[in-house]
Amino acid sequence: LKECIVLMELTELNGRRRIRDTNMDSRDIFTALTSGEVCVALKHLLVNYVRKNHPDVEVIVGLDARGFLFSLMLAAELGVACVPIRKKGKLPGKCLSCSYALEYGTDEFEIQKDSIKPEQKVIVVDDLLATGGTLGAALKLLKITGAYVKECIVVMELTDLNGRGKLQETNVHSFIQY
Ligand code: PRP
Ligand code: MG
Repeated sequence: LKECIVLMELTELNGRRRIRDTNMDSRDIFTALTSGEVCVALKHLLVNYVRKNHPDVEVIVGLDARGFLFSLMLAAELGVACVPIRKKGKLPGKCLSCSYALEYGTDEFEIQKDSIKPEQKVIVVDDLLATGGTLGAALKLLKITGAYVKECIVVMELTDLNGRGKLQETNVHSFIQY
C-alpha cells in the first residue's frame, strides 16, 4: 500500500503537478494510471483486499465511468460476475433507475433489471469518494435489487467532504485518504 501511495504521488507530481491543489479534479485517477507500476500496484492492492476480506463475493458492481477501470479487473481476477451501474440512457433492456444530486443539478443512475439476484453478495467499486452522492445513489439502486452489499471500495477518499457520513448503513473502505 505504501509503495502504491508513493507511486501515485510521484505520478501526480510528474503529471499535472496538481497534487497539493485542494481542487477535487487534482485527484484524477487517470493521472496515476499513466504509470505502469501504479497500474500493477493498484491491481494487486484491490485484488488482494477483496480476496482476503470478501472471499464469498459473487458480483462486482462498477460505477460509470471510472469505477469500470477497476470492476472488470477485479471480477476477471476473482472469477465472479461484473455488473455496471450506468448514467441514464446507456444500458439496453429494462432498467431500474434512481436520481442523485450533483454539484449543479441532478443525474440518474440505472442498473439492468435482473442483473443481480436478491441476496447476492456484492462489492461496489469506484475510483473516488468525495461528497458520497454517487455511492449513495448506487446503494439506493442496489437496495431495490435486494442485493447484499458487503462493502463499497474506493481507491481514494477526500475526507474533508465527509461523503462517508452519508453512507452510514454500509461499510466503505478507501485505500488512500487525502
Ligand atoms: C466522479 C468519481 C466518482 C464521483 C465521486 O465521477 O469518478 O464516481 O465523482 O464524487 P461524489 O462522491 O461527490 O459523488 P463523475 O461522475 O464525475 O465522473 P466519471 O463518469 O468520469 O466517473
Ligand atoms: Mg465516477
